Amino acid sequence: MVEPRFFETIAPFYDFLTRLFMMGTYDSVRRRMLNEDTSRFSILDLCSGTGYICNTIEAERIVGLDMSESMLARNARVKRPNKTLVKGNAYNMPFEATEFDRIYCSSASHEFKLFSKILKKCHQILKPGGSFVLFDIYQPKNPVLSAIMNTFVRRVVERNIMWVHTKEEWRQMLTEAGFIVEELDTIRGFYIYIRARKPRVEDTAESGNTA
Ligand SMILES: C[S@@+](CC[C@H](N)C(=O)[O-])C[C@H]1O[C@@H](n2cnc3c(N)ncnc32)[C@H](O)[C@@H]1O
Repeated sequence: MVEPRFFETIAPFYDFLTRLFMMGTYDSVRRRMLNEDTSRFSILDLCSGTGYICNTIEAERIVGLDMSESMLARNARVKRPNKTLVKGNAYNMPFEATEFDRIYCSSASHEFKLFSKILKKCHQILKPGGSFVLFDIYQPKNPVLSAIMNTFVRRVVERNIMWVHTKEEWRQMLTEAGFIVEELDTIRGFYIYIRARKPRVEDTAESGNTA
């Protein structure tokens, strides 16, 4: 897990640095993550930071969870009547089963050694048919990109606290957590975009019928 102090220090510059690091994808990725009508949904922005998702999305209930007070303080500058910010650790989320229609997690999974544990909890707190949407850096196979990821990004940007996964590892973790993987794409060779659905009761019945 990342040192908590890091985000406390970096919060004032975070949005500027993230725009640079996302190499021109800052707006297009967010459009893709939010490319549906979410206005009636209950949503969780997991590791919400300064509010990349939760200060833009239209939803009935918006919850942002993060453990950094400084990141949450910047997030809170944008007032939204249906937004609640929760200071907490993603490894120990204080939510009930089937609370959310969507869970978004942008640029944060690499902070976790055991993201598979978090995926299992996300599956539990999503409603059946609900989706988990993720954007982050990943482990490229391309040797040049892999070298950049494991030198510059790992050592300079992430200060040696970083866990990234290949596409295959992502697929396996999602499937083991119980998700149906709908989209698993790389972006610019450096990032991964995921949309995965918690099965509906009908999905389970159908697969039971064909078994
Ligand atoms: C790189 S930022 C991403 C913020 C935001 N999602 C975005 O896309 O701009 C990662 C965030 O994860 C939060 N974080 C890291 N480890 C966490 C944990 N164990 N529990 C909750 N939040 C955590 C950090 O405080 C930080 O705000």
